Amino acid sequence: MLTPDASLETYILEHIDPESDYLKALYRDTHVKLLRPRMASGHLQGRMLKMFVEMIRPRQILEIGTFSGYSGLCLAEGLGENGFLHTFEINDEQEDFTRPWFENSAYADKIKFYIGDALELVPELGITFDLAFLDGDKRKYIEYYEMSLSHLLPGGYIIADNTLWDGHVLEEPNSNDYQTIGIKAFNDYVGKDMRVEKVILPLRDGLTIIRKKA
Ligand SMILES: C[S@@+](CC[C@H](N)C(=O)[O-])C[C@H]1O[C@@H](n2cnc3c(N)ncnc32)[C@H](O)[C@@H]1O
Repeated sequence: MLTPDASLETYILEHIDPESDYLKALYRDTHVKLLRPRMASGHLQGRMLKMFVEMIRPRQILEIGTFSGYSGLCLAEGLGENGFLHTFEINDEQEDFTRPWFENSAYADKIKFYIGDALELVPELGITFDLAFLDGDKRKYIEYYEMSLSHLLPGGYIIADNTLWDGHVLEEPNSNDYQTIGIKAFNDYVGKDMRVEKVILPLRDGLTIIRKKA
């Protein structure tokens, strides 16, 4: 089941690590002040992202699609002493909301927040990443994937969000439903890509975990 019913979801949230008060306040502020607040990762996925970071122990993380900063703070929370997060947001109107949430957090010195198109800015950085979290425009997932893969160390991981797209991947999309078309094309592309290992987790809206072969 993609979305557990409300009582099962409550049960899950009661039996996993709680969110910090800071993340709770950010989630609330996201819902009060921003359009499309459901884009924020939230409690379960946030704890999952933090745990992935603790498992992978990356030095450098790339995030494409910052939005309000919820997932970014969870990724940063899992980082070790030398770890660093580079997070990119294309919408410059997001900066006034998100930057203070990063700067006032316990992880301010571990996060660099860039405003601009990750597809243009990341190649200019000259950084090799150990982990990339893809959560931007669903129509561009194959481009994010190829760009991230080319800046990923062998053995590094890519986590792609929303890859089950509320179950719409099972449907034949309308010709103008570019997001569903994009996600389906991405899943087909990665599914056949022998350069990587991959699994899809039916968590929230679908998370694909991809490992670049050594
Ligand atoms: C689903 S939201 C991100 C949610 C956030 N990662 C979280 O889980 O809390 C997607 C964001 O990606 C941004 N975006 C879209 N295309 C982008 C690009 N090429 N580079 C950077 N950000 C992009 C959008 O403006 C939007 O704010």
